[in-house]
Amino acid sequence: MAKSGTTYTCSACGASFSKWSGRCDGCGEWNTISEDTGLSAGPSSKGLGAKRGSTVTLTDLATQETPPPRTQSKVAELDRVLGGGLVPASAILVGGDPGIGKSTLLLQAAARFARTGLKTVYVSGEEASAQVRMRAQRLGLADAPVQLAADTNLRNILTTLEAEAPGLAIIDSIQTMWLDTVDSAPGSVSQVRAAAHELTTFAKRKGISVILVGHVTKEGQIAGPRVVEHMVDTVLYFEGERGHQFRILRAVKNRFGPADEIGVFEMTGKGLAEVTNPSALFLSERGEPSPGSVVFAGIEGTRPVLCEMQALVAPSPHSQARRTVVGWDGGRLAMILAVLEARCGVPFTGLDVYLNVAGGMKISEPAADLAVAAALLSAREDSALPADTVVFGEISLSGALRPAPQTENRLKEAQKLGFSSSIAPKGGKAQSAPGMTLKRFSDLTEFVGDVFGAG
Ligand code: TYD
Ligand code: MG
Repeated sequence: MAKSGTTYTCSACGASFSKWSGRCDGCGEWNTISEDTGLSAGPSSKGLGAKRGSTVTLTDLATQETPPPRTQSKVAELDRVLGGGLVPASAILVGGDPGIGKSTLLLQAAARFARTGLKTVYVSGEEASAQVRMRAQRLGLADAPVQLAADTNLRNILTTLEAEAPGLAIIDSIQTMWLDTVDSAPGSVSQVRAAAHELTTFAKRKGISVILVGHVTKEGQIAGPRVVEHMVDTVLYFEGERGHQFRILRAVKNRFGPADEIGVFEMTGKGLAEVTNPSALFLSERGEPSPGSVVFAGIEGTRPVLCEMQALVAPSPHSQARRTVVGWDGGRLAMILAVLEARCGVPFTGLDVYLNVAGGMKISEPAADLAVAAALLSAREDSALPADTVVFGEISLSGALRPAPQTENRLKEAQKLGFSSSIAPKGGKAQSAPGMTLKRFSDLTEFVGDVFGAG
């Protein structure tokens, strides 16, 4: 047992220990554990004592709240991801790999917001003002009334923001900011946590919206403590493959709108361009129907998005066959392969399996299961599905197919893009869209038998 009252807390994950150690057992971070003498040291034996606090006003749930007036950037893809525009006094974190286009996106957003009349300050801790100006010129935004600063000292930045009182402040990036009250290097866990805390409380106190840029680690998380994600109102991830021009802005947390909403952009020579019809773009590279290629009718947030699943199945030269996935979950692929083998008698032993979601898209919807199974079977049997067919539906471990939500919307989008038939699970209430033939199956074996004549 430790001395009573002494607790050691990890600043990255918040785990408490009775002993100090160099590495946190909870999250594996180094040098994040320190002695905690604050409130989290456990209930004090003295309790709150005789000193009483003042009374907190209690209200009921029915008290009328007016929805916050949002400012729209008029970049529809960005406004949608924000839940309908920028909420005053909100704190937003935008994460993404280095070089993916965060600074470009935010400079463009800053220019748009500034042109709507919202006073906007862009603080760069990574580039000199001249570099930002040069980029603005290249993007054709040099005349936008954005105010620039290049600094990393947060105390000076906050003093400046307080005096200028903008409606929006963009901080690029949180890892470069440092507070003189914290005794560690910029980018360290305690600096990032302290800087994010100062900025988010400043946003609420002064009614200024702040957008923080955050780099992500190799594991795909925002570098620094997880607590930063809890501090802010909205967490957006800017993702994409380096080799592709598509970029996806994804809301993973949003206190003011739906999470899982996406905005699609294209990186061009003149910055990011909005993609208003992502399905058409994701399918634009599709050629003749070929074995292993299946179109998945998916839903991202509130919007249907069609994309192509590509599978390749080939005899493996290795003793242990390879399973490689891009844009989907590797565990989920293993599950689909196991279900195909155990329930439908289609073995993949001794075969290498590659799965790719075309266009650099990342899919997490369970409804992609059936499209993946179809792509795997089509590749294995070397038989292409008809080019006018879309596929969706969730597969359970028993091999049963579960209906996917928003069937109607998926079918409408497919029809809009010229597809005329679809393969989906039985059940659910949705009917086919007019002009679409709908093939429905209740389990995977039935689907395999009907479509591939095996089973
Ligand atoms: P940047 O916004 O600096 O990325 P981040 O802030 O996420 O690190 O984007 C850098 C990349 O974007 C760089 O590789 C060049 C490319 N780019 C374009 O293709 N077109 C453009 O108009 C701009 C400004 C950048
Ligand atoms: Mg940058």
